[in-house]
Amino acid sequence: MQGNSRTVETTQPGIHDKLEALVARYRTSEHKRPVSAHTQQAFNAFTEWLGDWQGPLIIDSCCGVGKSTATLATRFPDAKVVGLDKSDLRIQKHAHYHNNASNYRVFRADVNDFWRLLRQAQPDAAWQIEQHYLLYPNPYPKSAQVQKRWHSGPAMPDLMAIAPIIEVRSNWLLYLQEFARACELYGKSTRIDRVETTTPITPFEEKYLRSGQDCWVLRSIDANT
Ligand SMILES: C[S@@+](CC[C@H](N)C(=O)[O-])C[C@H]1O[C@@H](n2cnc3c(N)ncnc32)[C@H](O)[C@@H]1O
Repeated sequence: MQGNSRTVETTQPGIHDKLEALVARYRTSEHKRPVSAHTQQAFNAFTEWLGDWQGPLIIDSCCGVGKSTATLATRFPDAKVVGLDKSDLRIQKHAHYHNNASNYRVFRADVNDFWRLLRQAQPDAAWQIEQHYLLYPNPYPKSAQVQKRWHSGPAMPDLMAIAPIIEVRSNWLLYLQEFARACELYGKSTRIDRVETTTPITPFEEKYLRSGQDCWVLRSIDANT
């Protein structure tokens, strides 16, 4: 089946000229936005679900309908996997994508707040976040929207602090090139490859690949592996 997804349109010719200044600004400033009540509740439900879990944890942020969360849970049976998305509608649709894996949950949460709560909880936690997936985040391709991209916004310090390995996918290569530059400024090395698969991990990936678009994957290179 052919898809009809449009390619990303941008007037931005290369890495945004404000990227480095934005990364530097947020790296040293405190994220003061109050945590929303619904995300605090989701975090409480998440810690209750984890109980005394002492093993690896995988986060699937902006998971949409959670197809990737269920797939990751099957791929990593020794880990607990958590999918997070702010859209109640998408989380409600997860029932359709549920598989038999019992080692995962999806929660409606704003990741801006959830990442901060994870970071605060981490020093005393028995669990360890092993990997963090951020698959097809909204690209905000207009040049003026640069601060809405995760790597150049206020949540980046939390995103960088919580997991040693991060994987980000996009159909806009420049998004990942910017993300890679921001990671470099945090001392993290990354590599970008083309997604080569016949079994897309998310509905957006499926849509883009069916439309004949290239998809790209950035993965951090863990210094210890
Ligand atoms: C382009 S969709 C990709 C969904 C899914 N990863 C996929 O590839 O099919 C981006 C998702 O990010 C979610 N999102 C955007 N901002 C968010 C935030 N602050 N917290 C949680 N989810 C967010 C949206 O609700 C949406 O489901």
